[in-house]
Amino acid sequence: MKRITIAIDGYSSCGKSTLAKQLAHHLHYTYIDSGAMYRAIALYVIENGLVNGEELNKVALLRVLDHIHIGFKHDDGSQRSETWLDGRNVEHRIREMDVSHNVTLVSPIPEVRAKLVQIQQQMGQGGGVVMDGRDIGTVVFPHAEIKFFMTASAAVRAQRRYLEIKGRGGSATLEEVLANIARRDLDDTTRAADPLVQAPDAIVIDNSDLTSSEQFDLAVGHVVKAIGVVTEA
Ligand code: DC
Repeated sequence: MKRITIAIDGYSSCGKSTLAKQLAHHLHYTYIDSGAMYRAIALYVIENGLVNGEELNKVALLRVLDHIHIGFKHDDGSQRSETWLDGRNVEHRIREMDVSHNVTLVSPIPEVRAKLVQIQQQMGQGGGVVMDGRDIGTVVFPHAEIKFFMTASAAVRAQRRYLEIKGRGGSATLEEVLANIARRDLDDTTRAADPLVQAPDAIVIDNSDLTSSEQFDLAVGHVVKAIGVVTEA
């Protein structure tokens, strides 16, 4: 059966990664979390003193950008692909609020995007990939066979992200999470380089009132239409 590319774009915290992981598992495809790569760069600038308040030392970042190594490794314990930065597993660290807060300082930088898009395109060569992000159906894989554009109300998204952070033992208030989501929506949709936009051929899924299994069934229906019957091996 043809191994296609599935691009999932949408706003922060609207369940893109949940759907992407479910589809990848069902289809035996590789799931790639492109947001984790932007988060890893944000962690790098935090840990290396390249950010001071809201000020990023862009010149210093561009000087070292080629030498920052970002990748994914399968973890046998969690049975998941986890994010690595310069030889260290940062999967959990990159989900903390300070990283969420600083990621929009690095994600608009064209050089950062060019580096990460190139890695993403290499990882997606040959298909059999579900990738989620903001520019996957428009920039990374404009010819993806299936594109989903996901959305949900900001209040629903904040509540979900808040519970996720709490579930991991992290600390944040619901107000902080909501403010961060509102800020990232604005930054993601208004930045000059590769802003979040709905690809004209994307299928829109508003999951404000959908359970994750309803959303999955809806998405699988579209995949079946594109590539035929899919059965779990
Ligand atoms: O999906 P996420 O919330 O983990 O993404 C973290 C940030 O990275 C988000 O604020 C937007 C940015 N991002 C991006 O600019 N392009 C992508 N393809 C993925 C994420």
